[in-house]
Amino acid sequence: MIESTVSNSDEAISADLLRQLAYNEKMAELGKISAGVVHELNAPLSVIISASQMIMRENGVPEAVLEMIARISSEAQRLSQLTRGLLNFSSHDATIGEVDLNLTIDFILNFLTYEAARRGVVVLRQLDFSLPTLLLDSNLLKQILLNIIMNALQAMEESGGKLLVETAATSSDSVRFTISDNGPGIPPESIDRIFDRYYTTKKPGEGTGLGLFVTKNLVESMGGGITLLNRVGGGTTFSVSLPLRK
Ligand SMILES: Nc1ncnc2c1ncn2[C@@H]1O[C@H](COP(=O)(O)OP(=O)(O)O)[C@@H](O)[C@H]1O
Ligand SMILES: [Mg+2]
Repeated sequence: MIESTVSNSDEAISADLLRQLAYNEKMAELGKISAGVVHELNAPLSVIISASQMIMRENGVPEAVLEMIARISSEAQRLSQLTRGLLNFSSHDATIGEVDLNLTIDFILNFLTYEAARRGVVVLRQLDFSLPTLLLDSNLLKQILLNIIMNALQAMEESGGKLLVETAATSSDSVRFTISDNGPGIPPESIDRIFDRYYTTKKPGEGTGLGLFVTKNLVESMGGGITLLNRVGGGTTFSVSLPLRK
């Protein structure tokens, strides 16, 4: 019955929440459409890559033309890698497998190069290359990283700043990564609410208050933990530990 679905929930939703849900729904639909567009880009990109490589193998092509073709080819390859990464990331399939934390961080940071650059944020990595691999769903790990890093970039919206991503093997049964920014930090009165569902200090349309809620739940579903450190002199560090399953 239609009436029962409408009056199903006791809590009436506010106009703000409705706007927010409508916006989330729109972004979810746009996301699906974009995945289709990205998929469509694959075929023309392959044509550009193979055609430019054929031209480069021809005899007697002037040096200046070869140089231009080489640039076309390398830019097309970069786009093709990006689109393949995007498609992979947007997939809804749960696939648990061996995951290299450092490579996953590299993927997300490359993916966010433009987001960092347009805010004047310098990205630094201190990755421990002796880390063992993890056994988990790499798309969920990407989502965790994306949420924390986007928050950090948004916190440095006006000021520019520095984003530092570190990895380390903390013990024989877990690894840790930390993401630090030098934005304004989180006010002491907000710290307890930061992981709450719908807690946001951003304007409607800019924040949903779901990022850290989802992130914390994902980390815990992997058997790990997430903690927040406000740094002296401003800035925030999120520290995430993930267990090694042997
Ligand atoms: N790196 C950070 N620096 C300062 N504040 C942060 C940072 N990360 C999260 N926050 C605060 O936590 C709130 C909740 O974050 P989140 O759950 O991702 O929701 P949203 O980003 O949609 O607001 C943000 O609105 C912001 O106030
Ligand atoms: Mg967020």
